[in-house]
Amino acid sequence: MVAAGSGTRFGGPKQYTELGGRRLVDWALDAARRACDGVVLVAPPDRPDHDPAADHTVPGGATRSASVRCGLEAVPADAPVVVVHDAARPLAPPELFDAVIEAVEAGADGAVPGVLVADTLRRVEGGVLDRDGVVAVQTPQAFRADALRRAHEGDPDATDDATLVEAAGGRVVVVEGDRRNLKVTDPTDLELVRALLP
Ligand code: CTP
Ligand code: MG
Repeated sequence: MVAAGSGTRFGGPKQYTELGGRRLVDWALDAARRACDGVVLVAPPDRPDHDPAADHTVPGGATRSASVRCGLEAVPADAPVVVVHDAARPLAPPELFDAVIEAVEAGADGAVPGVLVADTLRRVEGGVLDRDGVVAVQTPQAFRADALRRAHEGDPDATDDATLVEAAGGRVVVVEGDRRNLKVTDPTDLELVRALLP
């Protein structure tokens, strides 16, 4: 669970903001605990204390990819599948974790949730992009642990891990995402998420 960002666009560390009576990060931790055998929380370097909601808490890095690597170091070496999830997606249901894990257990190197894009996509400079075959990619993302570890060798950077696993030659499949699984990026997103709380 990567939760080490500073929330620049939100205006502060959104993972600790109040949402439905608890911290935003607690929603994501809850779903992860239901679906996974263990949870590593990657926390901001200035909040390194063990978080009782996770099995391990480790300080994160300067980028999301660096934070994933910090978390990977705390994942037991014999774990066959690793799921990476953004704390900023509090509405991801445990069933979505199950779905990406199952896709990896069925033979893929990685599996990501994808949802069809409803809007027309256009470059600001002009030119509409073909929406056919395009999905918006979410987390949780599951990977064969060795494929994820190999993809992170050399400390590469990307906005998600599937990009890195594919760049390293891995096969990533898309499972059906959940349109409610919004990511909290700015304060408006928090209002939307609040309206969708179970
Ligand atoms: N993240 C992280 N370590 C970083 C940067 C991001 O663990 N150095 C985590 C965030 O805490 C979040 C997820 O990665 O759960 C997705 O990142 P994003 O939504 O971009 O969050 P922030 O980086 O905190 O926000 P911003 O980019 O607006 O600063
Ligand atoms: Mg960020």
